[in-house]
Amino acid sequence: MPTPQIPTATPAAIVDALKAGAVVPPKVRASFGKGRCVRGTYVPSDRAEEITRSRSFTRPSRVLARFSIGSTNPGATVTDNLVLSGFSFRLGEIHHRSDILAQSAPVHFAKTLDQMLAFLEARIPGPDGSPDIERVKAFSAANPETLHQAGYIAAHPLPRNFASTTYWGVHSFPATNSAGETRFIKFKVTPVGAEVAPRESDLTASFANFLHDDLEHRVTSGDIRFSVMALLDRPGDPTTDVTIRWPDEDNREEIRLGTIVITGLEPDETCDASAFDPANLAEGIAQPPDEIFAARCAAYAISLTTRR
Ligand code: HEM
Repeated sequence: MPTPQIPTATPAAIVDALKAGAVVPPKVRASFGKGRCVRGTYVPSDRAEEITRSRSFTRPSRVLARFSIGSTNPGATVTDNLVLSGFSFRLGEIHHRSDILAQSAPVHFAKTLDQMLAFLEARIPGPDGSPDIERVKAFSAANPETLHQAGYIAAHPLPRNFASTTYWGVHSFPATNSAGETRFIKFKVTPVGAEVAPRESDLTASFANFLHDDLEHRVTSGDIRFSVMALLDRPGDPTTDVTIRWPDEDNREEIRLGTIVITGLEPDETCDASAFDPANLAEGIAQPPDEIFAARCAAYAISLTTRR
C-alpha cells in the first residue's frame, strides 16, 4: 500500500492564500464572504434512522443557516452566475449539534492540501491586479483534476436564487445507523416546492446583490424548503478524493434524512459570532477520511480569529 503523503501546506497558509486571492477586507470570511444569515427548522423523515443514529438528523430541531457566494468579498459585484454558492447549516439541539457546510458543486477544486495551496497561489493577482494567466494555464495543465469544479460550474450556472439551488456536502461521510451499521454517505441538499418568479427589478441587479435581495423577498413571502438527502455508497467508491464524484453518482439510491424549512432572516451578527465548523458532528456521522476535510477545522478557526 502506498504511504500517504504528509502535506507541507498548512491550514494557516491556505487561509492567507484565500485572502490574498480574493483581496478580502479585514473582518470578512476568507471564503464565501458575502452571505445572509437565516433561521429555520429541521424535521427528520421516518427513514433517517436507517442511515444514521445522529440525534442531529433523527430529531426535530431549530436550524441556524447561512447562504453565501463563494470567493467574493461583501463589496464585490458579481455580474454572472458562474460562481459557487454556499449553504451552511447547524441543526440539532444542545450537545447533539452538527454543522454541514455545503456548496453548489459536488466536487472540490483540489485533491490534496498542497495542491489547494498551489492552486490558490497561482491565482494571486500580480502588481497589475490580475492573476498571471500563463501561470494559471500551466498549473491547470499540470493538475487537470483542479479543473473539475470549474467544469461543473460552467455546465451548471446557478439558478437566479439561493432557494432553487442544489448543494452538496462533497466529502464521503461515514454514517452509523440505529442498528450499528456504518457506510459512507454524501449529503445532497435539494430544493423543494414551486418556483417563485424573480421580481422584474431584481433582473437588473448585480448577481450577488440580486441573490441576497431575492432571499429576503422569498423569506417574507413564503417558506423555503430543502430536502436533506443521503446518497448511498457502493463497494469501491472513491472516498478520499474530493475532486471526483462517485461513479454514476446522479443515479445513486438516496434516502431523505429530513426537511429544512427556512422561516426567517437572522441578524448577520448571529452567524458571524462563531464559525460553522465542519468537524462539529454529533455521534452517528463521523469525519470524512480525506486530508482536505482534516484541514478544514483548523482553517475555519483561524479565519474566525482573524475576522473578529
Ligand atoms: C469540500 C470542500 C469545501 C466546501 C464544501 C466548503 C464550503 C464552505 C462554505 C459553505 C463556507 C461558508 C461558511 C459560512 O457560511 O460561514 C466556507 C468558508 C470557509 N472555507 Fe470552506 N469549503 C471547503 C473546503 C475548504 C478547505 C479545504 C479550506 C481550507 C483548508 C476551507 C477554508 C474555508 C475558510 C477559511 C472559510 C471561512 C470560515 C469563517 O471565517 O467562518 N474550505 N467553506
